Amino acid sequence: MSVVEITSQHPRHIWSAMHDWGLAHYGARSVIYPPCILLNPHVIDLDDDVRVDSLCKLEGGQGMRLGRWTHVASFAHLGIGGGTLEVGEGVSIGSGARILSGTALPDSRCFSAASPAHWQHVARLVTRIEPYAFVGAGATILPGVTIGARAVVAAGAVVTHDVAPGTIVAGVPARFVRERPCSR
Ligand SMILES: CC(C)(COP(=O)(O)OP(=O)(O)OC[C@H]1O[C@@H](n2cnc3c(N)ncnc32)[C@H](O)[C@@H]1OP(=O)(O)O)[C@@H](O)C(=O)NCCC(=O)NCCS
Repeated sequence: MSVVEITSQHPRHIWSAMHDWGLAHYGARSVIYPPCILLNPHVIDLDDDVRVDSLCKLEGGQGMRLGRWTHVASFAHLGIGGGTLEVGEGVSIGSGARILSGTALPDSRCFSAASPAHWQHVARLVTRIEPYAFVGAGATILPGVTIGARAVVAAGAVVTHDVAPGTIVAGVPARFVRERPCSR
């Protein structure tokens, strides 16, 4: 696994023309504010105009794509567990959100409550956040979940199932609250 630590010693604004951090793709005008940590940057694909605020951690895992105009706020942790994460354009991910995209297989210490077969299944899943969805601060998205387009995940929610497009969910586990008004 390769690790890139973008520290505050790097230029405040890091444009793709200056440094690509070894990313698979670093779109035009995209910016990663230091300090951030990138694991397996060679599988991370940032489209144009993506903004990743400082103190985020992106785990490339088996693949990560952030669509154009996506904003990731400080302390967010994306790609936890090392699977595949696909984020559509215009998505907003709040501060401290945790997006799981896979999970490590249980080791000899058996830190998992589930069977090894279950975790092998989970490890193959793809987590998706569709265009213009909003993930609130401190929310947790579990592996294999799809957050539908324009959906809103409330701050602090734990999302265990797919969220329908244009809906608001909240709570632990997250439940439907209502439709999102003024959906595009
Ligand atoms: C989910 C959310 C969008 C709803 O906003 P809203 O429509 O203005 O909702 P209200 O504040 O009127 O609250 C409506 C109800 O939902 C509840 N609620 C609001 N946010 C909640 C949350 N995060 N978790 C659980 N319940 C929540 C309220 O307590 C209220 O319940 P009540 O009717 O029983 O009193 C908003 O509360 C939220 O979580 N925003 C996220 C903000 C954020 O994380 N920004 C990113 C910063 S980096």
